[in-house]
Amino acid sequence: MTTAPDQRALWTTGAIAAAVAGRTTADLAVTGVAIDSREVVPGDLFVALAGRTSDGHAHAARALRAGAAAALVHRPCPGLAIDDRRLVHCADTHAALVALGAAARDRSPARRVGITGSAGKTGTVRALATAVAAMARPHASVRSFNNHVGVPLSLARMGATADVGVFEIGMNAPGEIAALADQVRPHVGIVTSVGAAHLGAFPNEAAIADEKGALFRHLAPGGTAIVNLDAGHADRLIAIAREAGVGRIVTVSLDDPTADVHGLRADLRADGTRLAVAIGGRHLALKVATPGRALAGNALAVLAAAEALGLDPAMAGLALARLTAGPGRGRLVTIPVAGGTATLIDESYNANPLSMEAALATLGRRAPAAGGRRVTVLGDMAELGDEAAARHRALSGALKGARVAEVIAFGPLSALMGRAAGLPVLELAEPAAAAEAVRARLAPGDVVMVKGSNAGGLGALVEALTRPGRVQSLAGFWAVDERAA
Ligand SMILES: Nc1ncnc2c1ncn2[C@@H]1O[C@H](COP(=O)(O)OP(=O)(O)OP(=O)(O)O)[C@@H](O)[C@H]1O
Ligand SMILES: [Mg+2]
Repeated sequence: MTTAPDQRALWTTGAIAAAVAGRTTADLAVTGVAIDSREVVPGDLFVALAGRTSDGHAHAARALRAGAAAALVHRPCPGLAIDDRRLVHCADTHAALVALGAAARDRSPARRVGITGSAGKTGTVRALATAVAAMARPHASVRSFNNHVGVPLSLARMGATADVGVFEIGMNAPGEIAALADQVRPHVGIVTSVGAAHLGAFPNEAAIADEKGALFRHLAPGGTAIVNLDAGHADRLIAIAREAGVGRIVTVSLDDPTADVHGLRADLRADGTRLAVAIGGRHLALKVATPGRALAGNALAVLAAAEALGLDPAMAGLALARLTAGPGRGRLVTIPVAGGTATLIDESYNANPLSMEAALATLGRRAPAAGGRRVTVLGDMAELGDEAAARHRALSGALKGARVAEVIAFGPLSALMGRAAGLPVLELAEPAAAAEAVRARLAPGDVVMVKGSNAGGLGALVEALTRPGRVQSLAGFWAVDERAA
C-alpha cells in the first residue's frame, strides 16, 4: 500500500507558520511533534519551549541533529543560523503550541473526548482508545500529558485522519481545567472521580468537584457529560452540567440501578473484573482485564463514551478484555528475592487518597502464594495541605482491610499510616538506593505493592527491584512475558 507524502505528513512548516502567525522560508513536511530533544524521532517538529529551569532553544540544534525536520522557536538558537530553513519563527513558542493544537482541532473531523478526574484519567484514556480502535481511528494523549503543555501537545499531534481524539485533562490549581477544556472543546466529557488530590490548592473537596465540573462548561455544543454516580460529589457535577446546558447527561454506576449505564454484576477478581452491564436497553457481558472496582467503574464510563460517539458499546466492551496495566499503574512484575520470586504491583507512578484506597482494595484481592504475605512500600502522598496527616491516618483502615502484613515507608506520613494501622513499619530513605534493603524484607510468595506520589521517586526503586524481572500478563493470553528493561 502506498500513501501519498502529503497524507503522511502531520503538518508542513508552511501550515505551522500559518497556524501560529509565524514565519518560515520553506514548506517542509513533519510527521510528529516533540518538546524534549532527547525524545525526538526523525521527522518531528521540535517545539523549543522556554521553561523555568531549561530553555528548549538551547537544545534546538541537538533536536535537529537527532533528525527533527523542523523547529519552532522564538529566539536565536546556539549553533543554528537565524535563516536556517528548518526554523519556524514565532512570538512565543508556548502560545504557538496552543495555536497549533487549536488548528489541529479545527481541521480534524474527529469527535473529541476530554477526560478529567482526581484518579483514573490515564487509565480511562487508554481504555477508551483501546475500546474504540476496532471501530474508529483513535488519537490519544500519551503518558499523563494533561497540563498546559501536555494538552496542546496532544492536540497538535492529532493527524487529520483520526476520527476519535481522546485527551487527558488535569489540574494542580483552580482555573486550569476550564482553560485546558476550552482548548479541547470535547464532544464528550468524562469526570472519572473526585477526591482529595491537590487538596492543598483548594478549600475542600466540593471545590475540587467544581473545578473538575468546569470540563462540562466547555463541551462542544450539544455535547455529552458522563458522570459516575459512585464517585463523590456526583450531584454537584450533574448540577454543573445542567447549568451549562450540555446536550445530554449520562450517568454510570456499579451500585445505582437508575444510572443510564448500570453494572448489574461486578465479579472482582485478582486478574480483572467480569461485568454485566445494562446500557441503552441492552445487556452486555464483558471482562475488564485491569483489576479493581475503580477500574470497573471507569469501564462503564468508557462504554458510555463509545455509545455517545455513535459506536457500538458491545464492540467496545470486547476490547476491554485486552487492556494491560502500564508501568507505574498497576503493572505486575515477578521479581527475584532470596530463595524464589515475589510479585510486585507497580503503582509507583502517583498516589492520592482516592487511588491509594482503590489500589489497597485491589491488593487485598490478590492472594499471596503459599507462605507469602502482603507488603506495601509506600511514599508520602503530596499536595494535601493541612490535611496531610489526617488523610494518611484515615487510610489505616484500608491497609488493615487489605490484610497487609508490613509497611515499608519512605517518608514520615507513610510511616504514620502504617503505625495507625498497628502494623510493623520499616522506615527507609532514598528510594533509588533502597532496592536491596527492600528486597531483603521480602520472601518467596510475597505480594508487594509500591505506591506513592510521583515526586517521591518510587519509580527508581521499582526499576531497581525489577531488574532482572518479568512482566506478568494480567489475563493470560496476550502480552506474554515481555522482558522488563
Ligand atoms: N475512578 C477511580 N477512583 C479511584 N481510584 C482510581 C480510579 N481510577 C483509577 N484509580 C486508581 O488511580 C491510579 C492512577 O490511575 P491513572 O494513572 O489512570 O490516574 P490519573 O488520574 O491519570 O493520575 P495522574 O493525575 O497522576 O495523571 C490507578 O492505578 C488506580 O489505582
Ligand atoms: Mg494521568
